[in-house]
Amino acid sequence: MTNKVLIINGPNLEILGKRETSIYGSQTLEEINISLKEKALALKCEVIFFQSNIEGEIINKINSIDSTYSGLIINPAAYTHTSLAIYDSLKNLTIIKIEIHISNIYNREDFRKKSITAGACDSVISGFGVQGYFLALEYMCNKNG
Ligand code: DQA
Repeated sequence: MTNKVLIINGPNLEILGKRETSIYGSQTLEEINISLKEKALALKCEVIFFQSNIEGEIINKINSIDSTYSGLIINPAAYTHTSLAIYDSLKNLTIIKIEIHISNIYNREDFRKKSITAGACDSVISGFGVQGYFLALEYMCNKNG
């Protein structure tokens, strides 16, 4: 069975490439996603992308994940630090879940040091830059197959 992986990006990640580039890098989300698609193809898995700035839309997307998906990679962005509602929807999802952050949330402002959503995920990748998405995808694609 081909692994099918969903990548969810939260608020302000659609402006990657022009957002605090010293922290988040100069690649746009579209460029990153094109490279991720190529990587998925090489690893013989399927990748689907979703981005929203709206908490409820992210929750609706998580709650709509069905048994055709094998894994979720999520960068909840600022909702990481605030959203009990995203935590609850992730908690209910039984496929493998990896939380990813481009920056190292532990060496930045104090308010970023606590992740609410990580407690509902299997693993966390933080501080590898956009490479974190690729590391997570590689793990997901190689899982069970
Ligand atoms: C982020 C870190 C969050 O604290 C921040 O609000 C983001 C991006 C990251 O990828 O490093 O929007 O999730």
